[in-house]
Amino acid sequence: LVGAGELDKLTSNQSQTLANTIYKALSTRATSAVVSLDALNDHNIEPFVLALHNAAYRFDTYKSKKSDATLESITLHSTRADELSSRLDYLHAVHKGQSLAKDVGNQPANVCHPEYMAEQALQLAQQYPDLLKATVLDEAAMRDLGMNALLAVSLGSEREARLVILEYTGKPDQSKPVVLVGKGVTFDTGGISIKPASGMDEMKFDMCGAASVLGTMQALCEAKLALNVVGTMVCAENMPSGRATRPGDIVTTLSGQTVEILNTDAEGRLVLCDALTYIKRFDPDTVIDIATLTGACVVALGKVLAGLFSPDEELASELLQGGQLSHDRVWRMPVIEDYQELLDSPIADMGNIGGPYGGAITAACFLQRFTKEYRWAHLDIAGVAWHSGTNKGSTGRPVPLLMQFLRTRAGA
Ligand code: BES
Ligand code: MN
Ligand code: ZN
Repeated sequence: LVGAGELDKLTSNQSQTLANTIYKALSTRATSAVVSLDALNDHNIEPFVLALHNAAYRFDTYKSKKSDATLESITLHSTRADELSSRLDYLHAVHKGQSLAKDVGNQPANVCHPEYMAEQALQLAQQYPDLLKATVLDEAAMRDLGMNALLAVSLGSEREARLVILEYTGKPDQSKPVVLVGKGVTFDTGGISIKPASGMDEMKFDMCGAASVLGTMQALCEAKLALNVVGTMVCAENMPSGRATRPGDIVTTLSGQTVEILNTDAEGRLVLCDALTYIKRFDPDTVIDIATLTGACVVALGKVLAGLFSPDEELASELLQGGQLSHDRVWRMPVIEDYQELLDSPIADMGNIGGPYGGAITAACFLQRFTKEYRWAHLDIAGVAWHSGTNKGSTGRPVPLLMQFLRTRAGA
């Protein structure tokens, strides 16, 4: 028996807390349980069920002593079981993808390097041979193409960069794909513009955008949504060394535009800009990039909401709505012309930083310069991709949001 207060006033947030409380109460006291969904309002059912699934998540690969949970299964009960069953299947798919995103996100950077990311994608494609195809570009291939901004980030690392492409065909009719582009910086030291020591361990999570793309691709295969999606992971390690990029270095991006790299710690936009040019070859209907891009976004929105940047009203409202429905929420931030001049460079087409103010916005404005030929949105997940402190760990966000967006697009 769970006291939930006035059910009409129960928010999605509280329904998630409720799910966690229920899991905690049962996990070491029972082996199986039945949870009735009948008391919940319809809009709370999905956040509640997903939270209940996620409550059981553990990352104990490196713990000698594994969890002492006894709970093996939870049966969901509803008097509307028939009508709910396809929604519950969908949530199971989301949970599976979100857990993969967490697993990859939680791996330390001595294990999870660009090649490891590529390996995860190849394995996933092997798991779903009818739905998913994986392609991996190595540094030589990227050099031939002219992806010099991406390669500049990777220069200081002993690990080679990888551009990973996963093509999901859920609607084999040539319809234009949604393209997802995830930042996959497997460790961000800042490079020569090196970060302070305190908290730097958390920069192993700087590949969580890419991990969320991987997780979304798995969730898509499980939910079998009827649309086409290309997921790309842009993977590199940002390290200082004698070969590393220096502040002031100038590179020519794949788009032909030149960038003066004023701060090697603003590397996310450098790897993303070349990927955002590369993916034009898929003739995208819509492009969404997902990146732990700026500390400034964490200052602005904290660790509750991700930043949503898009010049496209319709796309922005689709994502805002997807956030509400999945309870994996975003808040709209501006990308407007007025900020562009902050990126001016006296010597190249642009610098890679926009000064001390509005850092999340100038980062988005930088990306916008590479996304003129398609409908585009940028999600800055720096605040929401992981928990810090004793609770340290990947959240697997925004897999629920991306899936809800795609689910609505697929008309499911
Ligand atoms: N990966 C970081 C952003 C970040 C910082 C995410 C802290 C989460 C927590 C990104 O590559 C970065 O270093 N951004 C710089 C940009 C600056 C140099 C313009 C930042 O936010 O300080
Ligand atoms: Mn950085
Ligand atoms: Zn970074």
